[in-house]
Amino acid sequence: SILEMEVEQINKGKYEHYMQKEIHEQPESLTTTMRGRLIRGGSCKAKTVLLGGLKDHLKTIRRSRRIVFIGCGTSYNAALAARPILEELSGVPVTMEIASDLLDRQGPIYREDTAVFVSQSGETADTLHALEYALENGALCVGITNTVGSVIARKTHCGVHINAGCEIGVASTKAYTSQIVVMAILALAIGGDTISNQERREAIIDGLFDLPNKIRDVLKLDQEMKDLAKLLIAEQSLLVFGRGYNYATALEGALKVKEVALMHSEGILAGEMKHGPLALVDENLPIVVIATRDACFSKQQSVIQQLHARKGRLIVMCSKGDAASVCSGGACRVIEVSYVEDCLQPVVNVVPLQLLAYHLTVLRGYNVDQPRNLAKSVTTQ
Ligand code: AGP
Repeated sequence: SILEMEVEQINKGKYEHYMQKEIHEQPESLTTTMRGRLIRGGSCKAKTVLLGGLKDHLKTIRRSRRIVFIGCGTSYNAALAARPILEELSGVPVTMEIASDLLDRQGPIYREDTAVFVSQSGETADTLHALEYALENGALCVGITNTVGSVIARKTHCGVHINAGCEIGVASTKAYTSQIVVMAILALAIGGDTISNQERREAIIDGLFDLPNKIRDVLKLDQEMKDLAKLLIAEQSLLVFGRGYNYATALEGALKVKEVALMHSEGILAGEMKHGPLALVDENLPIVVIATRDACFSKQQSVIQQLHARKGRLIVMCSKGDAASVCSGGACRVIEVSYVEDCLQPVVNVVPLQLLAYHLTVLRGYNVDQPRNLAKSVTTQ
């Protein structure tokens, strides 16, 4: 009806689509996610974090034999992005499960495990069934959801709301970045203060405070991503190479492109390049390589050299100031992004890929908020 259409326009504000609005809203959604959870005390008080919903369970989580992340789609990718920092700060082994695969295998879940269920909607059938399975097996079950009162929020023993605000576009964008931030805070909470990691913790907390500004910076790439989308509009396929903290960014960027722009896209672990994907490389197939500064940077530079040697058509995402050095071996397009503490870099790096997927979709004339065949929450198995 006309009324419904008008209400929708009011909800979208100055934006044409919900996905566009939700991408551009991320400086604010991240601010809300962090509100009350980061404490930057006075001169004598150390910087620390607070997760009210978990504080009584932190001891149990620290003592657990492993932390298992369970989710689907974008929520799984968010957990994958947070995994390295969880491992580093908690000292507890962290494993990953796609909910449906855990159920297919009836994989092992033990009483000594902490199982963390990540779900924007809190209603995804696969994730919910995996939760019931983990409860039966006696694990401590933690929920990370965006929906207060959702079934996953209610059935878990404890949890954290990501407070990203209502997400309407089927493609998850702002929930993804808020999920990563909550899991980074979770890593800080589980890790606890020790002398040896104090500097690292403070750098992460400072990085979190600064994140909304860094997202504002990266959103300025909107027009550049639209221009890139124009170049890629007629392509059949797009590969995205990442590793380390940004393996998840590669998977998530590719998921966005395939789900809304209806273009084949694959996220590839760069370390696996020589074990198969390299055969695909020629002068036609576009490849995004994520090569921002972190401990994997030099390895990623050598990947770029090898792709250049095969005349690969490269689009390199790098830290500001690195454009000349990453493209020294051949022609390429660059996407320069602001540097943040390594474990938070995935939050920044995904944004240009969200913008690219958005513009590709609009230019190709597809429905960006409700892609064909997909539903916002998948409540059937
Ligand atoms: C994300 O863009 C997708 N629409 C989809 O992968 C989604 O993340 C997945 O269905 C999980 O949903 P949830 O976070 O609500 O559990």
